[in-house]
Amino acid sequence: MNLTLHVWRQPSAAVAGHMVQYDAPDVSGDMSFLEMLDVVNERLIGKGEDPIAFDHDCREGICGMCGVMVNGIAHGPQRATTACQLHMRHFKDGDTLYIEPWRAEPFPVIKDLIVDRGAFDRIIESGGFITAATGGPQDANSIPVAKKAADWAMDNAACIGCGACVAACPNGSAMLFTAAKVSHLGALPQGQPERTSRVLNMVAKMDELGFGSCTNIGECAAVCPKEISMDAIATLNRELIRASVRR
Ligand code: SF4
Ligand code: FES
Repeated sequence: MNLTLHVWRQPSAAVAGHMVQYDAPDVSGDMSFLEMLDVVNERLIGKGEDPIAFDHDCREGICGMCGVMVNGIAHGPQRATTACQLHMRHFKDGDTLYIEPWRAEPFPVIKDLIVDRGAFDRIIESGGFITAATGGPQDANSIPVAKKAADWAMDNAACIGCGACVAACPNGSAMLFTAAKVSHLGALPQGQPERTSRVLNMVAKMDELGFGSCTNIGECAAVCPKEISMDAIATLNRELIRASVRR
């Protein structure tokens, strides 16, 4: 395939960015989206030009480091797929792709397609830790967890913190991400001692960092590569009401 790319180039947050056009010839359908960018970068380096900066680590869809807007869709057009697992066979010869970083005020651009998602770390930090007894570990079978609760916790623990939900949301809301963390720990026995303080602190931190509120648009769940559902946001709201009353 021969593709035309329009890529957001921005040297740093202090300098204005703009789109730059590149040709991407001889793209194989077996390449991942990031491998396609690797090849474009090799050509740029060969010509003595600055390669396109983009985030990545595992390239297996599990670390949450990658993420770009492809033609306005977070992680590109393939449902439940991270950018690193998106294969070029989902595009066709002659396509024009617009590649941009996550756009949200709490995620400032570091360079080109890389944004600072440290705000997510601040939300996690504010949730604190879980209280666990020290000493010899308790036999897992002696802590009964209902199947429904275990499944719900696992579904939400799948969140990789990629930030696509924030980038897709017109309100720049981090509700899906925060809801996944609150739902995951709130469903398990180990998460009970800090259940009230966790949700209050995480929601307060989310607001303080400038993330918007959820208005049930659903773009977050539509682009989430781990298919975290809007039910998590309903759980977050219920947990917040419960915690507010208890406080
Ligand atoms: S909820 Fe989904 S889109 Fe949001 S950070 Fe977690 S994995 Fe990424
Ligand atoms: S590079 Fe790890 S999820 Fe994409």
